[in-house]
Amino acid sequence: MSRTFAVTVFGCTGNAGRAVAELLAKSALAKGTPIAFAGRNEAKVTRVKNEILEKILGADHGKNVGVIVADVSDAGSLTALTQQTDVLINCCGPFSQYGEPVVKACVEQGCHYADITGEIKWVRDMKDKYQEQALSTNTTILSLCGYDSIPCELSAYLVCREIAPIFKDSPATRFDVESVVSSSGGGIPRGTLLTALNELGGKKGKKKPKAKRRKAPFVPSEEKASFGRSMSIFSLLNPYSSLGTHPHSAFTAPHFMCTVNTPVVHASMASMGYGGLHFRDRMSTGKSAWWNGYGLISSLVTYAMYICIGVSAFIPGVVGLVKKYASGRSFNGNEDGLVSLRCKGIAETAKARKSASVRMLIAGDAGIYATGLLASETALCMHQNMKTMTPGFQTPVQCLQEKLHKHLSSCNGVSIQISSEDAKKSE
Ligand SMILES: NC(=O)c1ccc[n+]([C@@H]2O[C@H](COP(=O)([O-])OP(=O)(O)OC[C@H]3O[C@@H](n4cnc5c(N)ncnc54)[C@H](OP(=O)(O)O)[C@@H]3O)[C@@H](O)[C@H]2O)c1
Repeated sequence: MSRTFAVTVFGCTGNAGRAVAELLAKSALAKGTPIAFAGRNEAKVTRVKNEILEKILGADHGKNVGVIVADVSDAGSLTALTQQTDVLINCCGPFSQYGEPVVKACVEQGCHYADITGEIKWVRDMKDKYQEQALSTNTTILSLCGYDSIPCELSAYLVCREIAPIFKDSPATRFDVESVVSSSGGGIPRGTLLTALNELGGKKGKKKPKAKRRKAPFVPSEEKASFGRSMSIFSLLNPYSSLGTHPHSAFTAPHFMCTVNTPVVHASMASMGYGGLHFRDRMSTGKSAWWNGYGLISSLVTYAMYICIGVSAFIPGVVGLVKKYASGRSFNGNEDGLVSLRCKGIAETAKARKSASVRMLIAGDAGIYATGLLASETALCMHQNMKTMTPGFQTPVQCLQEKLHKHLSSCNGVSIQISSEDAKKSE
């Protein structure tokens, strides 16, 4: 079926959706790719469309972007939406609240799907429920296309691709990969805060029976042991970065998204033949210098902060209060922010040793503009590869691999450098 639009952003009126829409328009309109913005309120979507076009192209731009009205609670409107576009980027979250009808419409209508969720349990549930139908309608469903988890997943893939070939000759004696991120200009978008509060226990009732719950959702059973090692208390609490991943941070804290990025990296690497790694998702806690113990003191402060947040979630009324505060605020992102990620891997066998590093820079703050750039470009990459893309539920790098690496490397605002070195072990 020929469709009117190549890519459509659903939820373009939200904090994150607006940045996705802006960056999609910047990239797609320059190449003449037809796009649309969608949401439940026509006047609001039209206003966002006009503001974005004026901002990026000036008042007399003469370009057009489609406007589609659809509501998550109206199945007919979702059918009409997904019939009009080749790829849909869904930005309506929390996804465990609003996501399922959108996924259902996409698999029914054969509309390829990308989203910016970090709700891993929801992603697993959708795969359980709709995988068969997605395969039968040849639909590709890629969740986790934002800051969670493309930077981590892509850099881990590039590092593993460099170092894992030494395991062909001899079994691994060491397979360590560590990612250290530092970002600037960030804030907490409303939807992210509400989603995090839902996960922390703000969502009342409807608990699934215990027997049906899985301990390590998303990660294939053969990878569960290494995933368990990566998420062990020792691995998470050890602040020392023995790989020397970040030249200025000897000590780091667990990345606040490590509970999302770690299962994604394990599931994705295992599917590409790089299973069995020990992965640490870390963040630098500011400039390190002798006076703060090269990051040790600021890392310990971050650990203390995590503990306070965890404990306060159990104090009655706190989650409700923060939810009330979150509902009335918004953070529209910071174009001058920067996400800077370093990932290093070391592979060793009895005979050889190989190490590789990736340095990735993404323009914009993590939650809004970097997410907007990653999600919009992943959707455009999907559109360019529609004929060869594997159908079904996958993670973005698992599905697009080198195509996504090449695509993102050529984008304004993204820089990816890879370096590697071999060393033969002495007899
Ligand atoms: N992966 C990442 O790094 C990342 C980054 C940022 C956000 N996120 C996730 O993205 C989601 C959105 O975050 P946000 O901060 O942008 O939230 P937000 O500002 O609250 O935006 C929510 C969007 O959903 C739309 N929506 C709500 N109910 C709807 C319905 N019934 N039908 C159609 N549209 C509906 C809203 O439309 P109206 O404007 O009409 O209300 C709005 O466009 C959250 O789940 C968040 O966790 C992920």
